[in-house]
Amino acid sequence: MASLSIRGLAVRYGATSVLDGVDLEVADGAYAILIGPSGCGKSTLLRAIAGLERPAAGTIHLGDRRVDALSPQARDVAMVFQSYALYPHMSVRRNLGFALEVRGLPRAEIDAAVEAVADQLGLRTLLDRLPAALSGGQRQRVAMGRAIVRRPAVFLFDEPLSNLDPALRADVRIELKKLHRRLGATFVHVTHDPVEALALSDQLVVLEGGRVAQSGPPRELYDAPTSAFVARFIGTPPMNLLPGLGDGHVARVDGWNRSFPTPLVGPVWVGVRPAECTLTPGSWGQVDAVEWMGAERVVTVVRPGFPPVAVQLRDRDVGIVEGGVDLSVERAVVLARL
Ligand SMILES: Nc1ncnc2c1ncn2[C@@H]1O[C@H](COP(=O)(O)OP(=O)(O)O)[C@@H](O)[C@H]1O
Ligand SMILES: [Mg+2]
Repeated sequence: MASLSIRGLAVRYGATSVLDGVDLEVADGAYAILIGPSGCGKSTLLRAIAGLERPAAGTIHLGDRRVDALSPQARDVAMVFQSYALYPHMSVRRNLGFALEVRGLPRAEIDAAVEAVADQLGLRTLLDRLPAALSGGQRQRVAMGRAIVRRPAVFLFDEPLSNLDPALRADVRIELKKLHRRLGATFVHVTHDPVEALALSDQLVVLEGGRVAQSGPPRELYDAPTSAFVARFIGTPPMNLLPGLGDGHVARVDGWNRSFPTPLVGPVWVGVRPAECTLTPGSWGQVDAVEWMGAERVVTVVRPGFPPVAVQLRDRDVGIVEGGVDLSVERAVVLARL
């Protein structure tokens, strides 16, 4: 088991800088999720930790061991790729045991390790199949099993659920969480799915343009995002960002009879989570659409000059869902508008 510590990490492809000074600390045994838009450098960061990408600058430590100059094999990490990357001509059994075969372990020891992992992941009856004869979910479990048999200190997952259909994705998400608890290892998992990010992480890291925009417990990023970028990235539906004006003490939103403390002056965003406001009859905005989601309704409110505002109401509590409304806001965060 090991903590992960990254300082000033830079990766370039030719003249293009993909990672530009990444600083990141992941505690021993934590479940860290890296999230960010497509192309922001998530896979590149994982590949650099795995040793598949050579950094132009910076250091990577696992525990107190500096690993950035070591070969991938010497790092004590295992990576599960989005594509699974199974050996197509090898049975599930050999795919699972191959890393141990390469290490030259005795046959009996490999068999025991493979069977233990096959039992853990429900692959026992599939050991003699080729990858082509497996479903997507089964291939995914083989890819995870292949990482687990190596007993690495750090597991790296690159969008492990993105090729699964939605129902299976929810199941495997729970499996991953249980697996993390059982192994007690450090997990670093890349996704662009905000639901996955909140459900799994005990540390959430948002990447923006090759740097860490914010890192911390998921609740901290949910409650107190430090930028509009982070605010929009976390939560479904995402946080509403309403244009407001700060006077150095409070910020106000046109037409609201409430103000929110902030030291900012000039244009700001007032961020309101859809689940942290309710509607009363009024004239601030008009209900534009209502989506019934079963346990809740998402009501879209429009007002000229404002972006549409999403309000998430418990279905049983819904009173007003049409016509003119005022927003009653429980909590808001004030963010710089750049
Ligand atoms: N081998 C490569 N050569 C040149 N550019 C690359 C290479 N791999 C990735 N990139 C570029 O680096 C950026 C980050 O890629 P990546 O880390 O895969 O992003 P993400 O996983 O966040 O979607 C992208 O703009 C991508 O086009
Ligand atoms: Mg990627």
